[in-house]
Amino acid sequence: MRTNQPQTIYLSEYQVPAYLVDHVDLRFELFEDGARVHSTLAMRRNPESAQGDVPLELDGDSLTLEGVALDGEQLEAGAYEDQGDKLIVRGVPGQFELSVVTWIEPQSNTRLEGLYKSSGMFCTQCEAEGFRSITFYPDRPDVMARFRTRIEADQNAYPILLSNGNPIEQGSLDNGRHFVTWEDPFPKPAYLFALVAGDLVEKRDTFTTCSGRAIDLRIYVEPRNAEKCDFAMDALKRSMRWDEEVYGREYDLDIFMIVAVDDFNMGAMENKGLNIFNSSCVLASQDTATDAAFQRIEAIVAHEYFHNWSGNRVTCRDWFQLSLKEGFTVFRDSQFSADMGSPTVKRIEDVTLLRTAQFAEDAGPMAHPVRPASYMEISNFYTLTIYEKGAEVVRMIHNLLGDELFRKGSDLYFERHDGQAVTTDDFVRAMEDASGRDLGQFRLWYEQAGTPVLTVSDHYDNSRGVYRLNVRQSIPDTPGQSNKKPQHIPFAVGLLNGAGQSLPLNLSAREQGGPTERVLELTEAEHSFEFHGLAERPVPSLLQGFSAPVRVQYPWSREQLLFLMSHDPDGFNRWDAGQRLAVDVIQALIKAPDDAEVEPRLVEAYRQLLNDTSLDQALVAKMLLLPSEAYLVELAERADVPAIHAARKRVLSHLAASLRDDLLACYQRHLVPGEYQLTSDAIAQRSLRNTALAWLLHLDDEQGRELALELFHNADNMTDRLGALRALVNSGFEDDRNHALEAFYERFRDDPQVVELWFSVQASSDQAGQLAQIRQLLEHPAFDWKNPNKVRSVVGVFAGQNLAAFHNPDGSGYQFLADQVCRLDDSNPQIAARLVSPLTRWKKFAPHYSGQMKAALERIRDKSELSGDVYEVVHKSLAD
Ligand code: TRP
Ligand code: ZN
Repeated sequence: MRTNQPQTIYLSEYQVPAYLVDHVDLRFELFEDGARVHSTLAMRRNPESAQGDVPLELDGDSLTLEGVALDGEQLEAGAYEDQGDKLIVRGVPGQFELSVVTWIEPQSNTRLEGLYKSSGMFCTQCEAEGFRSITFYPDRPDVMARFRTRIEADQNAYPILLSNGNPIEQGSLDNGRHFVTWEDPFPKPAYLFALVAGDLVEKRDTFTTCSGRAIDLRIYVEPRNAEKCDFAMDALKRSMRWDEEVYGREYDLDIFMIVAVDDFNMGAMENKGLNIFNSSCVLASQDTATDAAFQRIEAIVAHEYFHNWSGNRVTCRDWFQLSLKEGFTVFRDSQFSADMGSPTVKRIEDVTLLRTAQFAEDAGPMAHPVRPASYMEISNFYTLTIYEKGAEVVRMIHNLLGDELFRKGSDLYFERHDGQAVTTDDFVRAMEDASGRDLGQFRLWYEQAGTPVLTVSDHYDNSRGVYRLNVRQSIPDTPGQSNKKPQHIPFAVGLLNGAGQSLPLNLSAREQGGPTERVLELTEAEHSFEFHGLAERPVPSLLQGFSAPVRVQYPWSREQLLFLMSHDPDGFNRWDAGQRLAVDVIQALIKAPDDAEVEPRLVEAYRQLLNDTSLDQALVAKMLLLPSEAYLVELAERADVPAIHAARKRVLSHLAASLRDDLLACYQRHLVPGEYQLTSDAIAQRSLRNTALAWLLHLDDEQGRELALELFHNADNMTDRLGALRALVNSGFEDDRNHALEAFYERFRDDPQVVELWFSVQASSDQAGQLAQIRQLLEHPAFDWKNPNKVRSVVGVFAGQNLAAFHNPDGSGYQFLADQVCRLDDSNPQIAARLVSPLTRWKKFAPHYSGQMKAALERIRDKSELSGDVYEVVHKSLAD
């Protein structure tokens, strides 16, 4: 068991730094057995600090200290104190230069934070607190400094040496070594520092900014990946143009670089001028990347690029403000993706993630506000709440202010705070000041955790022609928070008449010809709205476009949902009506006897979707997807996963059997010849085909099997090939499944990204992903415990997506996960802590399951030398 419990850090205890850094001079000597880091900091006492003459404290982690000098004088051992996680120097003057030499071992760094090696190259990951494992430093985002970085390494092994900013000097050294010096003119926090040294090829392009400056764009990859950069480069240029046009943001340095690395804890990192990407989030080709991967790459390239303003030029004061940069930047990248493809589809995808995973987080033991009040390990707070709910909060401000005032607000924010480290409150204030709106109550979205529930009821007064909507809001208790105040919620609504037409929304008897959509602003615990001049009882279209991250409860009849599925003018709500109907049908079957009928109107609605070619096919492709098991679990009171799995499967089988001919026709209709394209139409067609195929194979249909085999062997792109593979793997055709898996692996074994897809297809399959098979995947030569992508694609996918196998009633899935978490905790605690997640919501499951999940958590808790990362998640999950 862990003896030293990690400390809790509180927002309320924030103090400005006692010392500031004006300039950092770094020299890295990179060797095969380690690296020596020489750092010289130009520092001074912070005039804003009330702390006075306190000792200088620098953060450190796993460093070997080789020397300390103050203003050029080597300090005696007694003049400073090396406490391991702190270097303390007493009696420093008001302004001084501190030099520190440290020795580190990137070769044995498996945590992948700080400086480490990935496939032979040196690279860094400093957010949030990795810089302290490179050298002693005031490692907090409100200390911003100008960096100069000199890198020295063997010329042959590491011809490419990169850091932030512009290269200012380079040359050769003795013993076959060379150096490059980089200078970054923009002051930045240490978390944005980056260094790369390796044998990489460079893909170049240029971008001319709105003011006519030519920017040198470079993507660095290992030679074998040279042909997989074009899409990311194009996405980068489109992002740069978009940020100029939509936010008026021009790029500031002369060079912008992206580097792909295989071993990376997260998706990518926005280091100033030198973004570092997980290979899977940048490399793509038609043969190896699915449509989903292309879209993910586009979004992440944009996300990291957009950080240059929302994150780097204006950064966070402290890590409680993380959503200042992450929520805003996710909002920006989602606007970008919407502009590049289908806005409705993008909204559906974002909301699916939010409602399935963020709502679950917000209802579980790790629930926290968008601006948390405390944390133990900041890396546990890179959450869906910070990112996705944070983006929803910015989206609501956008909806409340409208396009123009929102832009005025963002301009003011960037102008007012350029070069500063600020808070979410500063962001909201800029929006208020630019718009004249009072967002006082709105700020509760940052402070209160939990997903608000809107309970909607209605009444139609026939004699007056008045329709009344009553909305009650309540916010559930979350750890440490109860009795919450009502929030300011933008609630977009429309009303439809029986013919499916949108009605004018007149909020008083005098008003006439009102708009057909309105954003009602809920501010009270109970709010009523009256709509006048209505000749019949309307059908309400509630929360159009998902205008706020809330749960809506309204007693929809199946009749109404079917009506909305085909008539709601809001594409998002059309999809949502279909989801609600399918959820209702599946939930009813969970409780019903085995021979209960599947709602025939659902079948007919799907038949219509499949056959009506006048509908937006991108929307149809989304509407055909049944709600996921994870979403059904999220909606359940106490989930019985095998029962949910069985009921969902029954609906799927019934739909597939009833619609067999329609599916075959749909499959053929969307077999479009010609070149592979990434338009939203082409993506929708592939998605429809893959759905049709998956359903046919779900029936073990012979014709479907032939189509799948033919597609598997002849597809000219990975979306289709993987779709066919997935359909075969999830079918009962065991021989075909095994042959296809083998052939696929042989063909792509040298491509790590495709091998990860191959792992995840198996790990997510209830046919091919039972525990014994998962254990075999862990023994596979391509599996690597040191590579987070591999761990995620087997262990993460099994526990997060293969719910029926993971929640095996014998508890073996839970034991397995606990074992893997303990194993990873020693090498990579950040990844280990993320893997715990499926166990944390143990209270959500039926008693037979929750007891065993809890026991698995207790086993992890009792592991010796548990990391602070896993400690926090496990202890919060077990607390009541
Ligand atoms: N700031 C990164 C982003 O764009 C997140 C990130 C990348 C990160 N690597 C990390 C966070 C490692 C914590 C640890 O969202
Ligand atoms: Zn980010």
